[in-house]
Amino acid sequence: MNTESAEEVKESVKAYYGKTLKSSDDLQSNACKLGEKQMSNAVESALKLVHKEVSSKFYGCGLVAPEAIDGLHILDLGSGSGQDCFVLSKLVGEHGHVTGVDMTKEQVDIANKYVEYHAEQFGYSKPNTDFKLGEMERLFDVGIQDRTIDIIISNCVVNLTADKRVVLKEAYRVLKDGGEVYFSDVYTDTKLPEEVRKDEVLWGEGIGGALHWKELIELCKEVGFSKPYLVTARPFVVEPHLRQPLGKAQFVAATYRLFKAPNRSEKVASRVTYKGTIEDNPNELKLSVHNTFTRKTKVVSADVAGVLSASRFSKHFEFQPLEPGTTAPVDDVCIDADPFAYCASNKVAPGACCPKPVKVEN
Ligand SMILES: C[S@@+](CC[C@H](N)C(=O)[O-])C[C@H]1O[C@@H](n2cnc3c(N)ncnc32)[C@H](O)[C@@H]1O
Repeated sequence: MNTESAEEVKESVKAYYGKTLKSSDDLQSNACKLGEKQMSNAVESALKLVHKEVSSKFYGCGLVAPEAIDGLHILDLGSGSGQDCFVLSKLVGEHGHVTGVDMTKEQVDIANKYVEYHAEQFGYSKPNTDFKLGEMERLFDVGIQDRTIDIIISNCVVNLTADKRVVLKEAYRVLKDGGEVYFSDVYTDTKLPEEVRKDEVLWGEGIGGALHWKELIELCKEVGFSKPYLVTARPFVVEPHLRQPLGKAQFVAATYRLFKAPNRSEKVASRVTYKGTIEDNPNELKLSVHNTFTRKTKVVSADVAGVLSASRFSKHFEFQPLEPGTTAPVDDVCIDADPFAYCASNKVAPGACCPKPVKVEN
């Protein structure tokens, strides 16, 4: 897409979220509606404290509440009226911080209106949230410096930009080493035709700009992120009145996590043991649909070991590199990241093209 049409997309998205939609009841598809109900008690109780004007303008498509975030600085790309920011503001605690960036003034104004309100609700002496009017492709313009952010979240927003590559590059720039992007978005199983991409409602609803999920793998590789780890996915059916131009394309709302772990390729496969030390996760830590860790020692690939040891999870694990000559697992990024296979089976996809384990070299 050229610059001119990318700017047109932005203007149309701003009009959609600032003027056309008055509340989540006005959405024409269920792409931007929270589907999962698997939330921790901490998230559920924080959500109950969010002001109802903020919640009425929530247009997210997932739950973006990563674990172990106490004291961290979180950045929300496309924060809208601020619901996810306020929930996380409670979870990071008074000494943590949450920054929201959104380009639609009407939405940022609502979020700003309730900053003090939520600080009071959570018993903080001063607010730990701030909202900036700006574009996620140009975080520098709103003062977000290199390597200053611990975790980036985003909820149903990346599908609304014409240039996903630039967004991921910006995300990589502002994240600290070991940082993570944890985001919900809409994905398709095919490349969508150009006419779909020009349809304002389909684009505004997050459908027209949906990435083919395999493109996400390519983008991560290109920008330098780890492979995308699938956290959850649910299919959604596009309403009949929107369906016609979409042909046979299928859609899911999926949450992925990507890590900025630049030295992970130096890691070797390891035995890892979760210590059970993350609050709210005493028994297990679910990194992705294919990687759950309990207190039982487990052998993981070099990529998973690299991500765990570079990230904030490192202190919650014991690592024991595999001895030379031992057989080590290898990840298959296509199987691990496929949200459609996951939805179809709701468990690990059958390993028809699973790579064989490899021996660690002497
Ligand atoms: C589907 S809504 C989701 C809002 C919020 N994450 C939520 O869960 O309620 C999409 C939001 O992304 C914002 N947005 C879309 N493209 C953007 C961009 N390039 N930069 C900043 N914000 C953007 C829109 O203004 C809108 O508020």
